[in-house]
Amino acid sequence: METPTNMTIKGILGILMASIDEDKKRRLISLGMGDPTAFSCFTTTDIAQDAVVQTLQSRKFNGYSPTVGLPQTRKAISEYLSTSLPYKLSSDDVYITAGCTQAIEVAISILARPNANILVPKPGFPIYELCAAFRNVEIRHFNLLPDRGWEVDLDSVDALIDHNTVGIVIINPGNPCGNVYSYQHLKKIAETAKRHKILIVADEVYGHLAFGDNPFVPMGVFGSMVPVLTLGSLSKRWIVPGWRLGWFVTSDPKGIFKNTKNIERLKKYFDICGGPATFIQAAVPCILENTEEVFFTRTLGILKQSSDLCFKKIKEIPCLTCPQKPQGAMSVMVKLNVSLLKDISDDVEFCFKLAKEESVILLPGLTVGLKNWVRITFAAEPSSLEEALDRVKSFSERHSHQQKVHIELS
Ligand SMILES: *Cc1c(COP(=O)(O)O)cnc(C)c1O
Ligand SMILES: *[C@@H]1O[C@H](CO)[C@@H](O)[C@H](O)[C@H]1NC(C)=O
Repeated sequence: METPTNMTIKGILGILMASIDEDKKRRLISLGMGDPTAFSCFTTTDIAQDAVVQTLQSRKFNGYSPTVGLPQTRKAISEYLSTSLPYKLSSDDVYITAGCTQAIEVAISILARPNANILVPKPGFPIYELCAAFRNVEIRHFNLLPDRGWEVDLDSVDALIDHNTVGIVIINPGNPCGNVYSYQHLKKIAETAKRHKILIVADEVYGHLAFGDNPFVPMGVFGSMVPVLTLGSLSKRWIVPGWRLGWFVTSDPKGIFKNTKNIERLKKYFDICGGPATFIQAAVPCILENTEEVFFTRTLGILKQSSDLCFKKIKEIPCLTCPQKPQGAMSVMVKLNVSLLKDISDDVEFCFKLAKEESVILLPGLTVGLKNWVRITFAAEPSSLEEALDRVKSFSERHSHQQKVHIELS
């Protein structure tokens, strides 16, 4: 078996699913994957659905789109993102991709060159490692600090950078930690990148999904200081990950990254990678203009409620600690104290035994770079989340050193 560090999240979750005891006949609850559509309380707005039905039925969008995306789609996304920026993006800054995943692949490929290295957060999102390995770009991990709201350890960033460093990846709001960075912290990151003359790859696939104290601030706000490649998609905010509609955006008003050579390379690269379906692209202007505020408010309300519940339930489980209440996105990292457990040696064994005995799936922290941590996706129906964490609790009690006497006697 491959070690979890070489695997995709889907890969490890598949193995966990396969290890579940079928004869237990308990309802499977997966808090492993970041796909909220698995729970019926997370559903997209009729506005988005009707927009896609309309573009499909119009029969106008059955052909190829330009490889960089439909002009009206690029324009709509540039306007959508510009509302949160101190400058205006143009349509030409926006390239349409098959979800944020393809935007990641574009960013890594465009930055690749002999001996290049790129800085990525630990814990992080494994697609970056997989893409970089494919393009022979060296990965260098910087730490996120659990006791400081998962802020970037900027001292470690300074120490990692050399003349072959091409960029730094910042995921905000954060997966897997559920953090939302303050304006001040983002500014410090931008200053660090500027000092070292590297650019920032800003993964904002969870943009605007912030429900704690810090509002969401896009990294592009500092685009005049340092070039930012902004990556995003409809997947999370509109709860349509299967639509595969994302974007790669040059938030670079000074034109430092956007020289003729890089733009030519980008266009050539888009000529060889097919983007999302044309009728989905065509629906984007209507989706971005017409989605009602109440849809966003409702999603944020459920995420806040379920993350609060998650935080409260974790407090009842002695072997798990959550360093910070989630403030955004859809998951949280919790620390596992294996010394409290009698027959579990690490996070991977914890998750395997939990799947087998309780039909609950959590993601081993090792998969996202942190051994003896566990990632919990709280984007779930509150009742399912509660039941899953109750099962985690009884599982932990059963495997703990200090089992209650009446359990041992029964
Ligand atoms: C979900 C996710 C992606 C991928 O987004 P898609 O639009 O589904 O391809 C990228 N980055 C992070 C951090 C994610 O959580
Ligand atoms: C784990 O729990 C033990 C017993 O309560 C405690 O002494 C130890 O500090 C804990 N370890 C960590 C890493 O929290």
